[in-house]
Amino acid sequence: MTFDRSVKIAPSILSADFANFGAECRAIEAEGCDWVHVDVMDGHFVPNITFGPAMCKAIRPHVKTVMDVHLMIAPADPFLEDFAKAGADVLTIHPEAGPHLDRSLQLIRSLGCKAGVALNPATHESAIEHVLDAIDLVLVMSVNPGFGGQSFIPSAVEKVRRVRAMVGDRPIHIQVDGGVTPQTAPLVTEAGADVLVAGSAVFKGGSVDNPAVYGDNMRAIRESVAKGAKAA
Ligand code: DX5
Ligand code: ZN
Repeated sequence: MTFDRSVKIAPSILSADFANFGAECRAIEAEGCDWVHVDVMDGHFVPNITFGPAMCKAIRPHVKTVMDVHLMIAPADPFLEDFAKAGADVLTIHPEAGPHLDRSLQLIRSLGCKAGVALNPATHESAIEHVLDAIDLVLVMSVNPGFGGQSFIPSAVEKVRRVRAMVGDRPIHIQVDGGVTPQTAPLVTEAGADVLVAGSAVFKGGSVDNPAVYGDNMRAIRESVAKGAKAA
């Protein structure tokens, strides 16, 4: 993975057809997504259950870009190696998932993955202050984690701006996850986000039999971001 601050779209396959993940990943990549975002939930850290390392391993051959794995599980440490072996490029954990964030991040990097930290809407960005040199990505949650299709929480915009200032020149991606649409995307990219996770806004109206809609949906997000940048 190379680092740059261009705006990237990472569709969340939480909104894909669960009976057809391989084809869904191929379809969003063919339609021009930059990363593929995989939401792992345990029914304990968040009130929903999705999938584990075996599913990540199964879709890996269908993901040519970046497999971006968002772990909403606690504890996370015992499973990091399994997700790394399943082919994750990025492993993002929540600071609340364990007692030793720095140790967990070191473990992720030692497994050959990029290390991310996710900040819930109620988690202060000071949680990353002492691990800035141990991370490759900060995920700013703009909904409470657990479900797709929720409304964007506006306070995420200023949090992105503060995180962007904290990150400075470090090669750290700033990702926003939850309620990203053509309306909200320009707000967060203007504040400094470079990776936009979008589930409903990418998958709505499309299917593997009608994948052009995925491309149209991603184009709508990119165009709103470009327009926002011009207006600024
Ligand atoms: C929420 C997940 C998100 C979610 C985004 O817990 O982390 O990735 O799927 O979905 P939308 O874009 O529908 O809000
Ligand atoms: Zn996510």
